[in-house]
Amino acid sequence: MVSLNQISARAELERRRYQVEEALEEFVQKRLSQPDAPVMRLVRDVLLGGGKRYRPILAVLAYEACGGEDREKAFNLALSGELIHTATLVHDDINDQSKLRRGKPTLHTTMSQSHAIIAGDYLFALGFGLGGHNDDRVVERTASICGGIASGEILQMEHIGNLSTTPEDYYAIVDGKTASPFASACWGAAITAKAEQYADSMENFGMELGRAFQLVDDLLDLTGDPMMGKPRGTDVHDGKMTLPIIHALTMLHGSDYEHFTDVLTNFGDDRWGEFTELIEKAGSLQYVRQLIENHIERALNALENLPESRARTLMAELTKMSERRRA
Ligand code: IPE
Ligand code: IPE
Ligand code: MG
Ligand code: MG
Repeated sequence: MVSLNQISARAELERRRYQVEEALEEFVQKRLSQPDAPVMRLVRDVLLGGGKRYRPILAVLAYEACGGEDREKAFNLALSGELIHTATLVHDDINDQSKLRRGKPTLHTTMSQSHAIIAGDYLFALGFGLGGHNDDRVVERTASICGGIASGEILQMEHIGNLSTTPEDYYAIVDGKTASPFASACWGAAITAKAEQYADSMENFGMELGRAFQLVDDLLDLTGDPMMGKPRGTDVHDGKMTLPIIHALTMLHGSDYEHFTDVLTNFGDDRWGEFTELIEKAGSLQYVRQLIENHIERALNALENLPESRARTLMAELTKMSERRRA
């Protein structure tokens, strides 16, 4: 049952998302009359093309929840993060050879790999250009999480098809590529709001939510919702060792284990049925759902360290919604 309070919080979150869209749109429009217009035309679609905007919405809300009152500062932080996030997606899609992103064909498929590399670099530069106005520590942290994303991606590449990958390896990858950027957005919001006393709580909140977010992403890859805007089963095809797979490898034994490793190492669309049956048998989806719940609960607990406010309520609602997201 959804309560009236939840309905009003969700409507407000939708309004907040719209504000981020508007600010991005305005940013793009300005650049279209600058000398970099040709490359902006290249990235315009992926930038404005339907991202969920979790990170920028959180940055703005966290800033307010920490007592910040300068809207421009909040949006500067939020947009800078979203530009960098989009840069990582454009490059990630080259690495993963992904054909769809945000429901649309990827740049490296519609144009070329070179175009996509340049486009990603440009988005990084724009993000840092905007983010350069932030507090020095936030700028440094942003550079450091970009290093963490890169390291997470490399670690992930090194574990492709490695059936001995452990949950610890998995979390090292996820913390680098997904959780730290969430944490940095929320920590950066506390610093920007000059609310040092909440920085640790915001960091913890972001890490826990980011972990849950990636675990949900892993599940969506297996349950394959068409709303997701990217195709089902890509992780399995790519040999990515996501947690449901790592868990199934631990739980299955005897002929089931042999069968599962054979499916993984000789995977094709025709083996999807065998794959899902074994994953179900191992209870891996249930296990990952439980972990998601745990991370969400820890995120909500960290949030409790902030004083009560409308922004904090909205952050809590967005956190709960992320557990049920279908895209
Ligand atoms: C995609 O991030 C990469 C992951 C960390 C799972 P999002 O799921 O936030 O992608 P957009 O921004 O909504 O497209
Ligand atoms: C992308 O990770 C995360 C980055 C920020 C680089 P994935 O490759 O797992 O995410 P999707 O499935 O393509 O969105
Ligand atoms: Mg990837
Ligand atoms: Mg990818």
